Order: sequence, then C-alpha cells, then structure tokens
Amino acid sequence: MRYLITGANRGIGLEFVKQLVANGDTIFATARNREAATELNELAKTGQVFPIELDVTDVDSVAQAREVVGAKTDAIDVLINNAGAFFDRNEKLATFNPDAMRKTFETNTIGTMNVTKAFADLLNAGNNPRLVNISSNLGSLTTLGRNRSGDYSYNASKAALNMLTRMLSYDLPDVTVICVHPGWVQTDMGGSRAAITPEASVEGLLGLIGRLTPADTNSFFGWTGEDWAW
Ligand SMILES: NC(=O)c1ccc[n+]([C@@H]2O[C@H](COP(=O)([O-])OP(=O)(O)OC[C@H]3O[C@@H](n4cnc5c(N)ncnc54)[C@H](OP(=O)(O)O)[C@@H]3O)[C@@H](O)[C@H]2O)c1
Repeated sequence: MRYLITGANRGIGLEFVKQLVANGDTIFATARNREAATELNELAKTGQVFPIELDVTDVDSVAQAREVVGAKTDAIDVLINNAGAFFDRNEKLATFNPDAMRKTFETNTIGTMNVTKAFADLLNAGNNPRLVNISSNLGSLTTLGRNRSGDYSYNASKAALNMLTRMLSYDLPDVTVICVHPGWVQTDMGGSRAAITPEASVEGLLGLIGRLTPADTNSFFGWTGEDWAW
C-alpha cells in the first residue's frame, strides 16, 4: 500500500514508517527539515521510503510536497495526518497566551486541513482509501472528564480536529475518514513516563487501519481499535 505520513522524522510518525517498511509498503514520509531527518534518510535506502520536506502550516511547502509526491505516484491509499505540537504545557486561564493557541491550531488543526486539501485527489484515487487523523483523548469532550482544567490550546485544537474529521467524512464520501487516540505514548511529546511504547501504539493503529472498511467512516477510535467517545 502507499502511505503518506506527516511528521514522520520522530515519535509515532517515525515508528509508522519503520513498521510499514517491514510490511513491504511504500511510504511518503514528511519532515519539516528533510536533511536533518537522519533516520528517515537511512530508511530511504530500502527504496520503500521517500522523505519529503513539508511544514503543515505553510501552504507553499504543502503545495511543493504535493508536486514531489505527484511526480512519484498517481494515488495514495492511506494518508496519516500525524504532525502535531503541544506548545504550552500546563496552560492555565491565568497564563493563557493567545499566540500559543494560534500556533497550536495552525499545526494540529489548520495544518491537517492544508495537507488533506492538497492530497485529496491522490487519496480519492487510492485503493480502499483511508484518511487517519491522529487526535487525542484530550480532544474528547466526553472522556476528558469534567474536572480537568487547563491545556486549553492543545485540547481545543484536537477537539476541533475531531469536528473536522466528521466534516471531511461528508466531503470525501469515497474515503474512510477517522480520527484516533494513539494512547499515551513514550515520545518527545508524551514523555518517558508515558504508558505505552511507540511500537505498541503503532502496532495497534496499523491493525486498526488494516481492518477499516467504508462503514467505519466518521468514527473516533482508540489505538487498540475500540470505539472512543467523541
Ligand atoms: N505522545 C503522546 O502521548 C500522544 C498522545 C495523544 C496524541 N498524540 C498525537 O500524536 C501525534 C504524534 O505525536 P508524537 O508523540 O510522535 O510527537 P513528537 O514526538 O513531538 O513528534 C511530533 C512530530 O510532528 C512534527 N511537526 C510538528 N510541527 C510540524 C509542522 N508545522 N509541520 C510538519 N511537521 C510538524 C514534528 O516535526 P519536527 O521534528 O520538525 O518538530 C515531529 O515529527 C501528534 O499529533 C500528537 O498530538 C500524541
């Protein structure tokens, strides 16, 4: 299968690339700084990985990446909008910084739209095409809990991403559109005390992606494939 994965130079994105290489898939793996993406460039030696420079917040960069990918393939089967950022840790009402919220939405929410818009035609041409937005339990209005305050920017950006997932499922009727909570994962973002390894998260997510059918569109799943409450 042909995958496009954003933010693939480290963390969960890089782990996707590693496991997909082992599966024999082709991966267009994006990084903001392609030259510095050492592990991706190493994986490119397999001939299955094409590192592509892409900043999800920059429409020119996205358009350029679309051209590069379009020169190599006429279709993508799975687009994983994985790139994400958590700028303002422990953000409280008293410390709220509008610039941090803007930056967070630019990456997690608007960035996802930029990429999806640019690659929608390639995705529509895919085989059983699937669009997977990497969201978070922190974007769930239901499971976040009533007494958890703070982290306004990150949590709201993921809640908005969940809404975009729903809207995109209507706009892309031939694509299975879902969002997922990848678990609390040991990455730069999740920290070393997180509950699960990137290997376990991605293993679960790839199992889920492999089982998806068009009937699953407009759903929110956890990393082991269970339904997650919006
Ligand atoms: N780890 C967790 O516990 C957890 C839990 C729930 C959800 N998630 C979500 O899972 C996804 C991956 O997270 P992670 O834990 O792997 O985080 P990570 O280790 O911090 O990696 C984030 C990735 O996103 C890329 N990125 C950030 N801003 C970007 C931009 N403007 N354009 C393109 N790429 C950009 C980073 O690239 P650079 O190297 O250039 O910065 C990096 O490749 C995110 O969407 C995150 O919100 C993570």
